[in-house]
Amino acid sequence: MIEVQNLYKSFGEKEILKGVNMHLAKGENLGILGKSGVGKSVLTKCIVRLIEPDQGEIKVLGKDIINMKEDELNEIRKDIGYLFQGGALYDSMSVRENLEFPIRRTQYAGRKIEVDERVEQSLRSVGLLDAIDKMPSELSGGMKKRIGLARALILRPKVILYDEPTTGLDSVTSGEISELILKVQEEYNAASIIITHDMKCAKIATNRIKIIMDGVFNAEGTYDELSRSREKEIRAFFI
Ligand SMILES: Nc1ncnc2c1ncn2[C@@H]1O[C@H](COP(=O)(O)OP(=O)(O)OP(=O)(O)O)[C@@H](O)[C@H]1O
Ligand SMILES: [Mg+2]
Repeated sequence: MIEVQNLYKSFGEKEILKGVNMHLAKGENLGILGKSGVGKSVLTKCIVRLIEPDQGEIKVLGKDIINMKEDELNEIRKDIGYLFQGGALYDSMSVRENLEFPIRRTQYAGRKIEVDERVEQSLRSVGLLDAIDKMPSELSGGMKKRIGLARALILRPKVILYDEPTTGLDSVTSGEISELILKVQEEYNAASIIITHDMKCAKIATNRIKIIMDGVFNAEGTYDELSRSREKEIRAFFI
């Protein structure tokens, strides 16, 4: 679903990604752990080309996205759901309008019944159909995350990128969102990357985890495997 090879990215003098390699297989939920500022969000933004990498290869659904033209890029972005760190709902739009937004430039635009159906199905998936006519300011933090997820699902993506889906939520709500991520994996048969600091989320929602340190991935395994590691840097995540 995704193949990243030898990816480099610097901002000025600051080298962030220094030869990142990773792949995401069909149907899997891959967790990414790493300290704050290590470049996790930068990596996912490179995958959707919101950030231009300096060097390396990225294939999404078998297609080289580095050399893609804008229109082709927009096409492939429809297959990628992106849950942004912080949720990023448009405050001046209702939940319904937020969800309709990604549909605007697709073949469904203007076909009201299909658009309504998709919006409702997405909201149902995250258990928030009731919130359809609310404004973001009326929603709690956990609800905003769910609506962000509903929006990421609206085009029925083949790949979903979750950037900190549970940050800032209480432990019970985090657990619910983590279960939801698992449910979405089955319901949509999608493959996902889940960036998280929340070890409960990592435990519940991932099939495999990679740890990024100093610009490269240096450990990989299931939650259980990594939790048994004796290496100090890896242990630090599990305390
Ligand atoms: N557009 C940008 N311009 C300049 N520097 C940037 C840009 N985006 C990110 N950076 C820098 O790149 C580094 C990695 O940022 P990134 O957001 O990927 O960290 P992160 O691993 O996601 O951290 P966190 O866990 O806090 O979200 C940071 O030092 C950040 O300041
Ligand atoms: Mg980040």
